[in-house]
Amino acid sequence: MTDKRVDLTTDLMGLTLKNPVMTASGTCGSGIELLPYMDVSKLGAIVGKGTTLNNKVGNPPGRLMQTPGGLLNCIGLQNQGADYFLTEILPEVRKVDTHFFANISGNTVEEYGILAEKLDVDGISGLEVNISCPNVKSGGLAFGTVPEDARSVTEEVKKRTGKPVLVKLSPNVTDITAIAQAVEEGGADGISLINTLLGMSIDIETMKASLSNTFGGLSGPAVKPVGLRMVYQVYQKVKIPIVGLGGIMNAEDAIEYLLAGATAIQLGTANLVNPAVGIEVIKGIEEYMERKNIRNMQALVGKAHG
Ligand SMILES: Cc1cc2nc3c(=O)[nH]c(=O)nc-3n(C[C@H](O)[C@H](O)[C@H](O)COP(=O)(O)O)c2cc1C
Repeated sequence: MTDKRVDLTTDLMGLTLKNPVMTASGTCGSGIELLPYMDVSKLGAIVGKGTTLNNKVGNPPGRLMQTPGGLLNCIGLQNQGADYFLTEILPEVRKVDTHFFANISGNTVEEYGILAEKLDVDGISGLEVNISCPNVKSGGLAFGTVPEDARSVTEEVKKRTGKPVLVKLSPNVTDITAIAQAVEEGGADGISLINTLLGMSIDIETMKASLSNTFGGLSGPAVKPVGLRMVYQVYQKVKIPIVGLGGIMNAEDAIEYLLAGATAIQLGTANLVNPAVGIEVIKGIEEYMERKNIRNMQALVGKAHG
């Protein structure tokens, strides 16, 4: 914050964030990757790339595809596994003076629990649990599409960590509020939404799907109205804080999410267009608050009405 006329400080699940601007998982590594472009410690928080128990090579090439107003990806959670993260990446993350959330993904409820326990260490402020992964024991349906599964994962993670837990919801469901209420009942401290929307693209010359995995997750400006609608709906139904994301490219988009009910926001695809976008969004929110004579960030949260 450059002056004290407005206060961007945000309480998220008992953690004090310098401002409500976070990065979204998978779009800036562990945050360290942004250091050449901006002072990363100015961000409210960083969310790391999805971490799994073991090393994952991800899907073969043909993993990113630009679409009008969006980006399709099927990276496939490529990462070097939790032990590598703890020994090689976390020491670097600890040098940056902001909150860090580890984003975790598992194939089974047990795997989520093991990961939560392994990552219950200094330097990690909280966990973000990605429940958009296929539940191998339930025949591949994503944990995030079945309320009972979403609740079980949340309960298991909460049992195995002392850190605040954000559960990140998938938008690929009919009733997002049912999933949100299930994770709240399971003990989630907060909710992140949205993850990517399932989509596809076809190369008309080869007549083949453009992505190696046929389907991919759609992100970027094209998904913003969907994310915003879901944050607005969920805000009416749960008491825990919401971290809003999906297509936020600038301060105006971020403010819309805050007004819809988000306590904090995340920048994803926007980082791939402009790796310094976080600083611009913080400045833009500050300018908006000054213009509107709003002193405290919390006063914006959920102020929109239909
Ligand atoms: C290249 C790429 C990789 C991603 N990897 C992850 C991931 O590992 N874990 C996760 O929870 N979300 C992942 N996401 C989803 C984003 O964190 C975010 O939920 C989504 O892209 C919507 O936000 P956006 O429109 O601002 O990008 C990824 C998105 C992209 C574009």
